[in-house]
Amino acid sequence: MENDKLIIFDTTLRDGEQSPGASMTKDEKIRIAKALEKMHVNVIEAGFPVASNGDFEAVKAVASIIKDSTVCGLARCLDKDIDRAAEALKLANSARIHVFIATSKIHMERKLHLSPDQVVEQAVKSIKRAGRYTDNIEFSPEDAGRSETDYLCRIIEAVIDAGARTINIPDTVGYTLPDRFGQLIADLRERIPNSDKAVFSVHCHNDLGLAVANSLSAVQNGARQVECTINGLGERAGNAALEEIVMAVRTRNDVFTCHTDLDTTQIVKCSRLVSNITGFPVQPNKAIVGANAFAHEAGIHQDGVLKHRQTYEIMRAEDVGWFANRMVLGKHSGRNAFRERLKELNIELTSEEALNAAFSRFKEIADKKHEIYDDDLQALVSDALAVETEQIKLVALKVCSETGETPYAQITLNIDGEENSVAAKGSGPVDATFKAIEALVNSEVKLLVYSVNNVTDGTDAQGEVGVRLEKAGRIVNGQGADTDIVIASAKAYLNALNKILLPMERKHPQVAPEV
Ligand code: KIV
Ligand code: ZN
Repeated sequence: MENDKLIIFDTTLRDGEQSPGASMTKDEKIRIAKALEKMHVNVIEAGFPVASNGDFEAVKAVASIIKDSTVCGLARCLDKDIDRAAEALKLANSARIHVFIATSKIHMERKLHLSPDQVVEQAVKSIKRAGRYTDNIEFSPEDAGRSETDYLCRIIEAVIDAGARTINIPDTVGYTLPDRFGQLIADLRERIPNSDKAVFSVHCHNDLGLAVANSLSAVQNGARQVECTINGLGERAGNAALEEIVMAVRTRNDVFTCHTDLDTTQIVKCSRLVSNITGFPVQPNKAIVGANAFAHEAGIHQDGVLKHRQTYEIMRAEDVGWFANRMVLGKHSGRNAFRERLKELNIELTSEEALNAAFSRFKEIADKKHEIYDDDLQALVSDALAVETEQIKLVALKVCSETGETPYAQITLNIDGEENSVAAKGSGPVDATFKAIEALVNSEVKLLVYSVNNVTDGTDAQGEVGVRLEKAGRIVNGQGADTDIVIASAKAYLNALNKILLPMERKHPQVAPEV
């Protein structure tokens, strides 16, 4: 097979958002979409428009802003889903409608309560409906990894005839093994008479830790689109990680007969941005984007790398964007320099109030920390944007922590415009702070995760705190950044509380549709 293009389809904003607690606001989705466009991702799946008004508005906004990547919206095989997706994508330069329906016996019988014939009929009808709006139609037989190959051949042939031009084979539950999955792609391409009219794609979940291996095996067997997410974010154990797919194809170009369009130097920046926005930290030993991915600890390795880099390095750290976090601003930098740098980072603050909030936050940090890096800017913008819309805001916090004494925190919150103060004791300053917040809010949430990471190096760095809260089965993440980690903790807790207190209207794409 000639060296052809591997289409990179990023679904961080759709499947990635299905990770518990990873839901994103419209503005956050726009920030990530711009970063993906800058990295030259070919297709950005921006959401599931029928899921909620929020999802619809986010897909619409991404579609109207993104110019160089195709913007995709997900739809079940239902007229209302397809019409809603088409409406959300109306302003896109290049739009794709992605329709899916389950094809495994267990899903058809137990979830959809439809016969195999009815599923084919519904799929064909839906592709035709999507064809009213665009030629760029993708079809996914959900749970293909556990579907019968003969049945897959039948439904795929029918949807290609009806107009589908990308056929995406999802391993929805992460069940397949690399050689079998690769063989499935080869078999489908060979057995389906009209398979040459469509690009074959794969969408692998990581339940057995095989999402990337399965995707790459499919690529070796002719798949020419891979669906993936930044940092492998996604439903349950996540999806195939974009950075690993792209770097495997590039680094092992002796094996892969395809290439991607990606500007790989944007990878680390995108990874940090997604981690910062969703509150999902990147583990230090994560391939490509983990803090240790290029750190050589063992003396023998360090010696080898110094003598000849390739003794222990198969990729160059700078090729994926490590060290690109250049020092940018200091406390004497003015508003224009600040605005310009945000522009270079592709961050457009939509209102003057948002810019003011971010700039005053910048000044606050610059007073405490001399050098402000790009990662600091990303963190402070997230902070400023979050606070703008929050119902409960931090006004003041005083904590006292002393050896031999019980720590206490005194906090003032603005709740719906009214200020209230309270003090509470705790086992540590963070515990006392959270107890003080709860004394005022009484939210009955459960704290599931608390984590602190440094945004940049050094003891004057901002600490980025992530918290995960649960209430009645609903999980949300919150983030906060500050050079004082107790303040960062209070912000993160409030950020999560503000989200969990909002009413929830979103539907999940994979539940049985009410036909
Ligand atoms: O995992 C899956 O099957 C999906 C489909 C909607 C493509 O996310
Ligand atoms: Zn999925």
